[in-house]
Amino acid sequence: MVKTPHMLTRRHLLHLASYSSLGLAGSTFIDACSPKAPLQTTTGAGGAGGAAPTGPWWLSGNFGPVEGETEAFDLKIEGELPQALRGVFVRNGPNPYNGTTGHWFLGDGMLHGVRLEDGKATWYRARYIDTPVLGVEPSDGLDLPDIREHQANTSVVHHGGRVLCLAEIGLPFEVSKNDLGTIGVHDFGGKLASPMTAHPKIDSASGEMFFFGYGFLPSGLDYHVVDSSGQITLSQKIAVPEPTMMHDFQLTATRAVFMDFPLVFDMDEALAGEAMPFVWKPSLGSRIGVMPRSGGEVAWFEVELGYVFHTVNAYDDPNDGAVVLEAIRYASMWENGAGDFNTVGHLHRWRIDVENGNVKEEALDDRGIEFPRIAPSKQGLPYRYSFGLTIDSDAPPTPALEPNAIIKYDREKGNSSIHRMPGPRRLGETTFVADPNGSAEDDGWLLAYDYDYDNDSSALVVFDARDMSAPPVARVLLPRRVPYGFHGTWVADS
Ligand SMILES: [Fe+2]
Repeated sequence: MVKTPHMLTRRHLLHLASYSSLGLAGSTFIDACSPKAPLQTTTGAGGAGGAAPTGPWWLSGNFGPVEGETEAFDLKIEGELPQALRGVFVRNGPNPYNGTTGHWFLGDGMLHGVRLEDGKATWYRARYIDTPVLGVEPSDGLDLPDIREHQANTSVVHHGGRVLCLAEIGLPFEVSKNDLGTIGVHDFGGKLASPMTAHPKIDSASGEMFFFGYGFLPSGLDYHVVDSSGQITLSQKIAVPEPTMMHDFQLTATRAVFMDFPLVFDMDEALAGEAMPFVWKPSLGSRIGVMPRSGGEVAWFEVELGYVFHTVNAYDDPNDGAVVLEAIRYASMWENGAGDFNTVGHLHRWRIDVENGNVKEEALDDRGIEFPRIAPSKQGLPYRYSFGLTIDSDAPPTPALEPNAIIKYDREKGNSSIHRMPGPRRLGETTFVADPNGSAEDDGWLLAYDYDYDNDSSALVVFDARDMSAPPVARVLLPRRVPYGFHGTWVADS
């Protein structure tokens, strides 16, 4: 195992202990001007058409980092950008400053953003999130990492007028939507002293944001509700017996839904220096918790053994009040170690009758899918459409984890349609942006970064969400490739 600057080390355990028992009282904030190691990144584009991959796969090909920050203005556009798109598309992902990490999920967060207005793409910026650990080589010295010290590399959310960069092991980092510059750690006016999930949920009707966080000791979950202005209005502890990795959760109109699935933080692995010390423990089983979203008791329901990184949506069935949860389910996770991403996730539905305890579950598709997204207006509500990424089986062989197609599911018709990228192009997560002049649920566009193996380049691609058979509406050509990353969002001007 390659040691990295940001693996979970004994220092982190000290932090975790301080988080669990002392909260922020035991923390040390290292100024963002901490000395940074020089860039040593030499990884280029690997795979077909690129240099030979070197090192672990997450440092090779288009998973590998780009060198430094950059910006470009008045970008060339193929096609025609919708005039209604006024804002910034921004996506987060790991881009290790020192060129190496011990796991795909680690590495300093880098934002890639494109501003669209009046049919033009006025700028592209690649900016590191300037966290206290950016480029800092760790040591077993006196500095105690805390929830203000992490790479903030997983997702980005726009709420309460703030753009927040998230990773589930700490507090959010706020950045400016004007230039993606880092403003600093955001602790909700001192009210948040525990980690925040990378997948908060926003009720589009009330404007409230709901989230949770978990620790690495069996300290349970912390659940929070934030009003539309960005003020925390509710915080609650939730007991769980094991420190399981809960990457996502869900929200209905009345309930919060948690997934306690048995990928468990392991202290021995951590002390042994494993970069991602989580162990699959199937004997613990899998269970789903349902709680009033305004807080209260959690009712837990045993389900078939499995794991979920990402959910699609959840809602209260209008006919009988049952909770319906849809997510990308894996039969197991990391059985062969935390670098094993050979398992395939499938669209899955759980139907939980909270009153009588009945749980029904079913696999909905035998194709592999990840990075599910919906129209934000349907969060927590009955919905018709969802979108995700897949590797189209008719396409030439591709490395794992490099999707080349969008799947659009129509739950009302019970079918799906695919948009396959041409030739050597791959695709990152799509973000749905509603057409303000539309009325149907799929009136809008899907925005994503692509990667072209032939010329080692990327574009921001705008798809018509209504019609997967249509070519992209527009492609904004970028000055250099955008590495594969995790999650993005649309920061609308209003
Ligand atoms: Fe995620």
